This record gives sequence, C-alpha cells and structure tokens, in this order.
Amino acid sequence: MLYQPPLPSKYSALTESELVDAITQRKAALGSRLVILGHHYQRDDVIQFADFTGDSLKLAKVGAEQQAAEFIVFCGVHFMAESADILTTDRVRVVLPDLGAGCTMADMADIDQLEDAWDWFTNECHINVIPITYVNSTASIKAFCGEHGGACCTSSNAREILKWAFSQGDKVLFLPDQHLGRNTAYAMNVALESMVIYDPHKANGGLTTSQAREASVLLWKGHCSVHELFTAAQCDEIRRDDPECKIIVHPECTWDVVQKADLTGSTEFIISVIRDAQPGTKWAIGTEVHLVNRLANTYTDRSIRLLANMQCLCTTMYRIDMRHLLWTLDELVAGHVVNQITVDAETSRLATIALERMLDHVAPPPIAIK
Ligand code: 13P
Ligand code: SF4
Repeated sequence: MLYQPPLPSKYSALTESELVDAITQRKAALGSRLVILGHHYQRDDVIQFADFTGDSLKLAKVGAEQQAAEFIVFCGVHFMAESADILTTDRVRVVLPDLGAGCTMADMADIDQLEDAWDWFTNECHINVIPITYVNSTASIKAFCGEHGGACCTSSNAREILKWAFSQGDKVLFLPDQHLGRNTAYAMNVALESMVIYDPHKANGGLTTSQAREASVLLWKGHCSVHELFTAAQCDEIRRDDPECKIIVHPECTWDVVQKADLTGSTEFIISVIRDAQPGTKWAIGTEVHLVNRLANTYTDRSIRLLANMQCLCTTMYRIDMRHLLWTLDELVAGHVVNQITVDAETSRLATIALERMLDHVAPPPIAIK
C-alpha cells in the first residue's frame, strides 16, 4: 500500500455541508476538464459527486472513453486508477484521492512471485499455461499476462475470458482471486479435482510437477478479505429463518457460499437483479456493505439485507472520503496534480494487450427476475 501523507489541517475543520458546497464549486470550476468515476463500493457521500458509477468492467470502459478530459479523479482503488491510466492517452491524468486506497487482493500477487511460478511451470513442469488475471491486480501482473498470451477479466466477464483462454490452451493460471477462478471454472463444468491451488508463499506453489501437469486450472492463493466474510452457515441461517428470502452473492465469495446462493454475479449484475425484482421480494446480498445499503435505501419496497450479521466493508476503498476528494480538487484548481497514478510506457503497452482482450469480451446481458 502506498503512503498517503496527512491532509493540511484546514480540511479537518470543515463540516459536512461545507465539504459538499466546496466540492460542488470545485467541480463546477473544473467543468469538462474533470471526470469523477466512482465504484459501487464507494461511500454515499463521495459517490454523489461521481459523473459515472459502475463495477470494475464498466468503469474500465468508461475510463477508456475519457480521452477529452484532462483529469480523471478515480474514487475506487489503486488498480482501477492504474487501468484508467493505461487505457487513456498521456494527456489524461488519473488521480486517486487517497494513496492508501489499495486492494488487499491485488497485493496478494506480486510480479516476482509470478515470474518464479512461470519459471517453474515452463522449465520444470514443461506445461503451457494461459495466464488470466482478474483486473484486481497490479499493472505489472497485467503486463505479464499480456506478454505471455493471456488476458485480464473482471467478475462480469470472467466466464467469457476463461472460455477464450481454453480456446488458446488446455491449462489456465487464474490469479489473484482463487474464488472467482474456482467459481467461474466450476460453472463451466471444470471439476473441482481438476483445479489446484498455487500458493506463492510455498516452494513450487506447494505443488508437485505431476499435480501441475494434471490440473486444468491453477488457482493462485489469493482472496478478497471482504467477500471471504460471507459463509455457508449464514446462508443456512437465512434459509431456515426466512425461506422466501433469495440469496445473491458476488463470485469473490467462497465456492460453498456460491453453491448455496440463488444467484451469483458482479456488482453490476447484483444491481440489475434487485432493480428488476418485484416489490415485496426479499433479498440477502453477499457483497460490500455500501452497495447493499444503497440498494436497500433505493428499493424500499423490497426487503434487502446484508447476508452477514457484521459490517463487510472494503476498508481501503473507504479511505476515500470528502476531505481527500476536496483536497485533490483544490489542488487541481490551483494547477497542481497530486496523487497522480502513472504506469510506465512499456508496462502500459503490454498491459493494454491484456486489458483490450478483456474489453473485447462482453458479458451476456444480466437476467431479469420477475
Ligand atoms: P466488480 O466491480 O467487478 O463487481 O468487483 C468487485 C470488487 O471487488 C472490486 O474490487
Ligand atoms: Fe479489493 Fe475486495 Fe476491496 Fe474489491 S472489495 S477492492 S477485491 S479488497
């Protein structure tokens, strides 16, 4: 995680309404030079200023379209801002309001570990692997995948990308999220026994060469600490207490939770299902709490609750608050670009290959629940 220096003290003295007024004024002053993007897990007080909201796939697409803006202020996490920098020209400068807004999952795969794994696959196992990285990863991991015949995916199009990967070779390395990899491959009829965990903290990933040779999918041992908080026991409890309640979860949840759920999909999918659901229906949702609360507040004629009885909060995304957003905009108005996220030219070139493959594979339209 990068270090975010403390803000000047004047920002802590501002009230909520002063912050809202000031951000509104700075946005107006910057006009079309500025685009603010907000991920669905962002806090409400920040998301109110977003010009576009979306899941990772939608924001990557919208980011790539912003070639006319001078500044993209990304209210999301570090890897999202990196992707926006890669997909835009040098003219567009991408800013992350708090440098501490990283992603713990992305931090679970570093490029040295991936290079070690690759060396072992190639020189000792003699296997040909297609590397697929969830977009929740560093730019260098994306670049590695682009350079080695692989691609990025998001939770919206992981299935389409895995299908593509299996058309390129018979073995896939999926990183960094073992759960998205396992859930997606299983839904495509890959047996659990054909998937093995590659643990980057163990010699040779904790595998034997024959285990690696026999597997169809090598799952990197990474996870989302927010979505791992949902459990099969919580699903059982909902089923017991309220049989009418439907369970919908994000595919970053563990395999047993996904098996117990009625529906699984990305944040954009979850939103569309709740939007299309009938009044009076009941839903327990397994994803980040800000999105669940926003859905509950928007669709008040439906009963909507978090699947877990605890706060499942993306603490890194939560670091972006109105004070950091205002500070960022103040500096832009004054002609200083702070917290710019940049990816070097060669990493960008290779990562673009992987990201463009991701953007070329669209997910099927979300289903409607009547
Ligand atoms: P999506 O935005 O693809 O649904 O992923 C959720 C997430 O965890 C973002 O980091
Ligand atoms: Fe990363 Fe999980 Fe937060 Fe998404 S919800 S940004 S995967 S830690």
